Amino acid sequence: MKFFADTADLDEIRELASMGLLDGVTTNPSLVAKSGGDFKETIAEICKMIPGPVSAEVVALDADGMIAEGRHLAKIASNVTVKVPLTWDGLKACSTLTGEGTMVNVTLCFNANQALLAAKSGATFISPFIGRLDDIGLDGMELIEEIREIYDNYDFRTEILAASIRTVNHVKQAALAGADVSTVPPATLKALVKHPLTDKGLEAFTADWAKTGQKIL
Ligand code: E4P
Repeated sequence: MKFFADTADLDEIRELASMGLLDGVTTNPSLVAKSGGDFKETIAEICKMIPGPVSAEVVALDADGMIAEGRHLAKIASNVTVKVPLTWDGLKACSTLTGEGTMVNVTLCFNANQALLAAKSGATFISPFIGRLDDIGLDGMELIEEIREIYDNYDFRTEILAASIRTVNHVKQAALAGADVSTVPPATLKALVKHPLTDKGLEAFTADWAKTGQKIL
């Protein structure tokens, strides 16, 4: 499973990229607002750091507007992935932009039929929102499983990008369910390393090593 960082924070992306952990980045208007940076400059900077897909979301609501914005964003760098909402107009924009060779991430997906339409429209990525489904008392992970089954039934090439990931358990479940990508907030990505027995074991090894009075260097 590929890891994308779900953030527009350049410092966080830099650190994760330096460890070779990132296959891509996703942003959305809320994350850009939170970062406080200029949208297009931020996307350009991220694209220089990460060779993989970098999602930049359109804000127009009509297909023509989305297509114009998408073409403009795609000129920033060859790895820009234009993010469009899962609306009728968004699907039109998806079809046009992918036909021009631009990668498209169809976002705000909340059911399997929406995902089917996105794949039929040639989407490069579909973004089912796990956490927001959990928020309203549904099981977000079930949606990943359903989309996986449908895409596999018909050999759709659209990649399932598990989004709205909130917990380390979401990451594990998305991997088990066969998501192609998880886009993960940096704090959650870093939390994947944690286990209390790792900390306890390290504490014991450190204490026992001190008893030997030896040094490696
Ligand atoms: C990424 O593509 C999505 O916009 C993001 O994962 C949404 O996450 P949230 O539901 O925590 O805002």
